Amino acid sequence: MRRRGCIPFKDFGTSRRNVSDPLVQITDLKKTFNHLGRPLEVLRGIDLSIEPGELVAIVGPSGAGKSTLLHIIGTLDLPTSGEIAIQGQLLSAMGEPKLAALRNKMIGFVFQFHHLLPEFTALENVQMPGLIQGLSRSETEPRARKLLEEIGLGHRATHRPGELSGGEQQRVALARALFLEPPILLADEPTGNLDSATSDTIHDLFFEINEKHGTTIVVVTHNPAFAERMPRIVKMRDGKVDKDLRRGRHPKASSNSPAEG
Ligand SMILES: Nc1ncnc2c1ncn2[C@@H]1O[C@H](COP(=O)(O)OP(=O)(O)OP(=O)(O)O)[C@@H](O)[C@H]1O
Ligand SMILES: [Mg+2]
Repeated sequence: MRRRGCIPFKDFGTSRRNVSDPLVQITDLKKTFNHLGRPLEVLRGIDLSIEPGELVAIVGPSGAGKSTLLHIIGTLDLPTSGEIAIQGQLLSAMGEPKLAALRNKMIGFVFQFHHLLPEFTALENVQMPGLIQGLSRSETEPRARKLLEEIGLGHRATHRPGELSGGEQQRVALARALFLEPPILLADEPTGNLDSATSDTIHDLFFEINEKHGTTIVVVTHNPAFAERMPRIVKMRDGKVDKDLRRGRHPKASSNSPAEG
């Protein structure tokens, strides 16, 4: 895994890692919600393995369980049964402190609605994950500035979210998610509420991040053009993986190229 290492991290239990372990291994994963006293089976036996550096689109109809799966991969929710392992480490074997450490170290999130802190500037929002970890402003600022430059928003560092366009806000959220250099980036409909030109800019950023940092990216999307650009598409239906398509397509192929069926 490539790391630029400008912020030191404690090694996260890599000692147990076997080189043949996938980055994410999901085995017979099930999730049942209890709703008004009745069980609702939302994930009904998911098997999925994701290798380091992969770009994966998760697609499927509304209610198929895409967000639920993404939340479980991101350790924000627990499965009802089945296993999920990250770098060979079973999440079910971890207590909350260890899970939280893994989440901070390994996973960045981008959601449909950016969830930026309105009273802080773009720069401060990007710095926030570092500040929360106890790093100082001066330690975190250069990297936050660099990330803002990378996403083309160096000139908006002092703007608060209310002073940014929707696409700019989403790009700041992306920079924030990348601040701690997570090897895994999870995104849930990151361009769901943006126009198509702005969406394309953000889609391009995902490919650039993958290429530049080797970040593994799993993105839930309803955008067929974006999904078509991804080398792997996991199609979900009724809480199961319906199709898992790997193509040799180069992700840099233009979003304007005709989509293949
Ligand atoms: N906390 C919950 N309690 C009960 N049911 C839930 C809960 N969370 C999600 N569900 C149900 O689980 C199903 C799957 O939800 P999920 O959010 O994973 O769908 P999705 O594939 O992301 O859909 P969309 O494309 O609309 O975002 C839905 O039918 C939803 O109503
Ligand atoms: Mg969803």
